Amino acid sequence: MHVDQPRTIRALIAATAPWLAKRGSSSARLDTDLMIGHALGLKRLDLYLDLDRPLSDDELARCRELVKRRGQGEPIAYILGHREFYGITLAVTPAVLIPRPETERLVELALSMLPDDAEGLFVDVCTGSGCIALAILEHRPGLTALAVDISGAALVVARANAITLGLDDRITFLEGDLLAPCADVRDARLVVSNPPYVVPGSPLLALDVAAFEPKVALYGEEADALGHHRRLVRQAAAILAPDGALLMEIGSDQGAAAMAIQSPLFASASVERDLDGHDRVLVLRR
Ligand SMILES: C[S@@+](CC[C@H](N)C(=O)[O-])C[C@H]1O[C@@H](n2cnc3c(N)ncnc32)[C@H](O)[C@@H]1O
Repeated sequence: MHVDQPRTIRALIAATAPWLAKRGSSSARLDTDLMIGHALGLKRLDLYLDLDRPLSDDELARCRELVKRRGQGEPIAYILGHREFYGITLAVTPAVLIPRPETERLVELALSMLPDDAEGLFVDVCTGSGCIALAILEHRPGLTALAVDISGAALVVARANAITLGLDDRITFLEGDLLAPCADVRDARLVVSNPPYVVPGSPLLALDVAAFEPKVALYGEEADALGHHRRLVRQAAAILAPDGALLMEIGSDQGAAAMAIQSPLFASASVERDLDGHDRVLVLRR
C-alpha cells in the first residue's frame, strides 16, 4: 500500500500525534507541536497560523528524526534541549536530570525562609542542571551560591545555564562528593539538595526515566536509597549559620524513613508535602 507523505504542517501533525499516542506518549499532541516547531524554528502559535504551509524534504526529514526519538521513549526535554523550571528556562542534556515540577516545592520552601533582601551564601548540593540554585538566585538578588556536583559533565550544563541567565557572577560551581568541596564554608544560610533517592527497579520509576536519565542522578547509595541524605545531615550542620536549615528532596514514599534520620545537630525536623499532597521535602532546622 502506498501512503502519501504528509506535505503540510497540518497533515504532519495529523499523522504524527496518533502515532506517538500509540507508542505511549501521554501528551502526544503537545509533543508533536513542540517537535515540529523546534525542527522548523517556529513557535507553537506560529505553527497554527501557518498550518497549510508546504514542507520541504529537508524539513520533513528534520521533523521525522525528532519524532522517531520521541517514539523510542526519549524525554521531550532532551529532544528540545530545554525545560522550564520555576519561571526560568534551563538547557538540559542527557548529562543532567530533567528538572521536575515537584522540585519547585523545595525552591518555594527555601524562598519562604529567605527574606527578599537576604544576603550571604547558600549551598546547592547535587546541582545537576543548576535548577534549584539558579531559581533561588533569580529571586534573591542579594545572595550568592556554591553549587556542587560529582559529575563534571553536569557542571558544564549548569555553568552554561548560569551564564545564559546572567547569574554566573553570583554562583561558583565545585566538582566533588556532597559537601566535601565546601569544608571551609561557615555560616551558610541554607543547604538545599535534591540528591539521588531512587531504589533501582522501583515501580515508581518510569521506564523512559530509567532508560534515558543519568544513573548517577537517580539512584541512592547501594541498598540505602536515603544514603546521600544521611551523609548530608552529618555534614551540613558544620557549615550552616546558627539559624540555618537543610532542605532535601525525598521520594513520595520516603517520609517516614526520612523523619527517622535523627540528628542531635538539628533542633527540629519536618516533612513537607508537594502540590499533589505527596511527602517531598525533609526540612531540618538548626
Ligand atoms: C536527582 S539529581 C538532581 C539534579 C538537580 N538538582 C535537580 O533537582 O533537577 C542528583 C544530582 O546529584 C549528583 N550526584 C550524585 N551523587 C553525588 C555525590 N555523591 N556528590 C555530589 N553530587 C552527586 C548527580 O550527578 C546529579 O546531578
